[in-house]
Amino acid sequence: MLNFSFHNPTKIHFGEGQIEAIKKEIPSNARVLVVYGGGSIKNNGIFDQVAAALSEHEWFEFSGIEPNPTYDTLVKALAVIKEHKVDYLLAVGGGSVIDGSKFIAAAALFEGDDPWDIIAKRARVNAALPLGVVLTLPATGSETNAGAVVTRNGNKLPFASKLVRPAFAILDPSVTLTLSDRQVSNGVVDAFVHTVEQYLTYSVNAKVQDRFCEGLLQTLIEDGPKALAADTREDLEVRGNLMWSATMALNGLIGAGVPQDWATHMIGHELTGSYNIDHARTLSVLLPSVLRNRRVNKRDKLLQYAQRVWHITQGDDDARIEQAIVKTEQFFKAMQAPTSLKDVDLGASDIDEILKKLEQHGMTALGEKRDVTLDISREILEAAL
Ligand code: NZQ
Ligand code: ZN
Repeated sequence: MLNFSFHNPTKIHFGEGQIEAIKKEIPSNARVLVVYGGGSIKNNGIFDQVAAALSEHEWFEFSGIEPNPTYDTLVKALAVIKEHKVDYLLAVGGGSVIDGSKFIAAAALFEGDDPWDIIAKRARVNAALPLGVVLTLPATGSETNAGAVVTRNGNKLPFASKLVRPAFAILDPSVTLTLSDRQVSNGVVDAFVHTVEQYLTYSVNAKVQDRFCEGLLQTLIEDGPKALAADTREDLEVRGNLMWSATMALNGLIGAGVPQDWATHMIGHELTGSYNIDHARTLSVLLPSVLRNRRVNKRDKLLQYAQRVWHITQGDDDARIEQAIVKTEQFFKAMQAPTSLKDVDLGASDIDEILKKLEQHGMTALGEKRDVTLDISREILEAAL
């Protein structure tokens, strides 16, 4: 296993009714900005629960953060923060609201002239407002990690700072019951691919990380379809297992001490940036193609994946690897997720544009061995048609 330092200080309150824990987590004299998205929290009772928990706090609202949050929307929060002397942010939503709030937290205290430099120039974040989270859509892991992705003019770019990692996160599985099937599917697929990006690389004999990954993948394979099936979709144990899997898939634990890939994500971000395709749907389209293309590099781990996750024992090595990739595609289909570019209305004529964006964003040496060049990305995209 590789050397690593691991520190994830986000305090988690898991379970039904935990939203009231906000009350004791946010200092009583804080001036709080509740940040949310398009208003789903107003229709499903989450907003009311948050308001009740904040009844003794001074608080304000900023709403309208869109899926795949944009810089133009986020910077509007800065004036509200200034006007009301806000000193604590509470994000209530999915990955977009949480990521957007992380950017707002850093931008509010940014010393440079242009907060976009935090992303475009990787300007150092020296301070950020404290942030708490009420998670409403298990998927990204953003609720306990230090990363965020922000879009400006079709450029979807990541940044990370330990200063924007949430101080606490509320994980109440019951709030996920109002998600549409599509958002449930997106969440399961995103968590699955996060795990794969940190697991299907090359072996460094990291047994604990490998077994954790296999446990997460098997949980998602078992319970993902249950969250879509009519007779189990309201099952809170299913929702709880999915929620905890998604958090664990990207809180740093399974990625500590192992090589990491992320090629699927980086190519996927261009599909979202240019064509506004849901994040997770870009991943289900690309992952099978990435695995087939990189099967030589990933051989040992693909065989381990075939055996331990899918229990495939028949056939020679190549046949077992192919069967595991086919099983992965079947799982995405069972989750109602697309598995080809055609499924998301893209074709061969779009590939040049995607490659242009990858080049523009410096995504020319991807993967755990940094050997996914633009030519390889082209092969991956062509095989995903
Ligand atoms: O806007 P609201 O009203 O909140 O509605 C949202 C939105 O329309 C809705 N929703 C959320 N919770 C709900 C609900 N509807 C009903 N009931 C609920 N309980 O779902 C829609 C999608 O929400 P969004 O936050 O966009 O989804 P997700 O959590 O999948 O986040 C995606 C974003 O996270 C980024 C993605 O790139 C994308 O921008 N990612 C962030 C990562 C990170 N910070 O570590 C890693 C990921 O790989 C990913 O890149
Ligand atoms: Zn993701």
